[in-house]
Amino acid sequence: MPRRPKITIVGGGNVGSSCALWAASKELGDIVVLDIPQAENAIKGKMLDLAQCGPIERFDSKITGTANYEDIADSDVVVITAGLPRKPGMSRDDLVDTNVKIVRSVSENVKKYAPNSVVIVVSNPLDAMVYTAWKTTGFPTERIVGQAGCLDVARYRTFIAWEIGCSVEDVQALLLGGHGDDMVPLPRYTSVHGVPVSQLLSAEKINACVERAKVGGGEIVKLLGTSAYYAPASGVIQMVEAIVKDKKRILPCAAYCDKEYKVGGYFVGVPCVLGAKGVEKIVEIEMSPDETKLMDTSIEHVKELVGLVKKLYPQL
Ligand code: 2OP
Repeated sequence: MPRRPKITIVGGGNVGSSCALWAASKELGDIVVLDIPQAENAIKGKMLDLAQCGPIERFDSKITGTANYEDIADSDVVVITAGLPRKPGMSRDDLVDTNVKIVRSVSENVKKYAPNSVVIVVSNPLDAMVYTAWKTTGFPTERIVGQAGCLDVARYRTFIAWEIGCSVEDVQALLLGGHGDDMVPLPRYTSVHGVPVSQLLSAEKINACVERAKVGGGEIVKLLGTSAYYAPASGVIQMVEAIVKDKKRILPCAAYCDKEYKVGGYFVGVPCVLGAKGVEKIVEIEMSPDETKLMDTSIEHVKELVGLVKKLYPQL
């Protein structure tokens, strides 16, 4: 009998819990949320609470809260959300020292208990944490991927739709680069039901949407006092769905690029084909000299961040 996909989420905070909620509401599989031993009762309680939505929301997913890594065995997908979120005034990069320790320790356990899983990293600073998970697990590059582009492009699409006054569903867009304020939304690859956005909005208005998307995470931190979680989790579950249903969706993800986009062996946001094997292909697009320049700046930033990680842990 075929079994349901098994989706593990490590870290039961705001992002992890929201991932579980979206995954259950879409009935993507059985769900395990793992948290630290000090939070074991809390995560068990939260997941029991979520399981009891099943009759109303119509899902039969088995939902488990745990602090025991043995419970993640045979996971098809593992989402790593563990780590500190930003506080007002902090950049994502300020989290590197603390979160690299956490992501390393989680990744060692993922390697041991879920060696065949596709791993999606969400912890910040994202591009450096994906690299850390890759080096620590030793998994093939197609099975390590970072969530950032799905979130960043969703923010950009939202702002474009609000500006036009159309449905967010009809805005298609592309975004490249790292998950920092120098990410690269691409207006030339933005359309509204096939109509280039440049025919619907002035360059000034498009640029305002680009700039707002670039600092979209910080805008929420300032208001909320901590990092966003509904949309980051929604971005994760878009990727999980593509993987567990082998949909071959093209989504912007932090994927390992060597020759692609001339990155030279780092994880950077690029359009990827996501399916059961993880990152099945990286899609290379034509870029103008200006777009290439922006992408190169973003790649340099990612390299600097990975440099910080290597300073802390030379073995990575
Ligand atoms: C954000 O951009 C949490 O980094 C995430 O909101």
